[in-house]
Amino acid sequence: MTIIDGKTMAQKVREDTQQRTAALKKKGVTPCLAVVLVGEDPSSLSYVTGKEKALAEVGIDSRDIRLTANTTEEVILSLIARLNADKGVHGILVQLPLPRHIRESVVIDAIAPKKDVDGFHPISVGNMVLGKKGFLPCTPNGIVYMLKEIERKLAFSLSGAHAVIVGRSNIVGRPLGILLSQKSVNATITICHTGTRNLSEMTLQADILIAAAGKPALITGDMVKNGAVVIDVGVNRVSVPTAKKGYRLCGDVDFDSTAKKASFITPVPGGVGPMTIAMLLRNVVDAAEMGT
Ligand code: GUN
Repeated sequence: MTIIDGKTMAQKVREDTQQRTAALKKKGVTPCLAVVLVGEDPSSLSYVTGKEKALAEVGIDSRDIRLTANTTEEVILSLIARLNADKGVHGILVQLPLPRHIRESVVIDAIAPKKDVDGFHPISVGNMVLGKKGFLPCTPNGIVYMLKEIERKLAFSLSGAHAVIVGRSNIVGRPLGILLSQKSVNATITICHTGTRNLSEMTLQADILIAAAGKPALITGDMVKNGAVVIDVGVNRVSVPTAKKGYRLCGDVDFDSTAKKASFITPVPGGVGPMTIAMLLRNVVDAAEMGT
């Protein structure tokens, strides 16, 4: 069993974006991402901080916009309109989830597709489904990158493999199914969700098992086929009063029992997370190269 080191894998992408950023700066363009965080959700705050740190490390500017949880939808929409029109801003990222009184789809729809570096806008999603050029969502794209790297380095073939995805979110599960079923990857896809009758019957068939359900330790070793590649997208905070921060990060996969079965497995943290960030950096540089 091999643990997939997402940090090392992301490094090559980060170096590439750093070089492209330096080249843009020589032409007088500094790539810039507007990062909008509404409210004080601790996980979202931690994600946003991690993204901004990575942006700074490769030389990309960020506009850090923090709004209180009671901000109205109207205020957010007028902020997005201003960012859409701002020639100094190449990408716009609104961290999700948003507070319940704000309609996420209305906010996402308001982002100019050419600045939609999260790949969440219906135009980006449509382009992805049709296999056309456009921004790809960062976590699914990072997972495809990881799987292709494993394939390139090792005796493992994605073409014809059965990928079972647990979770159907707009951010991960559903777009990942689209990307993995494209000809360029050529996997066979099953998407499981809370309505799936016998989950382990499905997961046991997986050559590639992707857990993206947001449920700590949902996948245990007895649900995994021998030799499967296991990708854990979960980042769950599990309360541990004796831990320094009062919690521990736990994936959707029970690592110890699953590692006994898997050929490759991503850890949490240090697996999918760094790849998501690397793909975001790449999308921002793509946006800056295209101009505003
Ligand atoms: N919340 C969880 N993942 C993401 C992401 O990739 N982008 C945004 N904007 N919010 C998220």
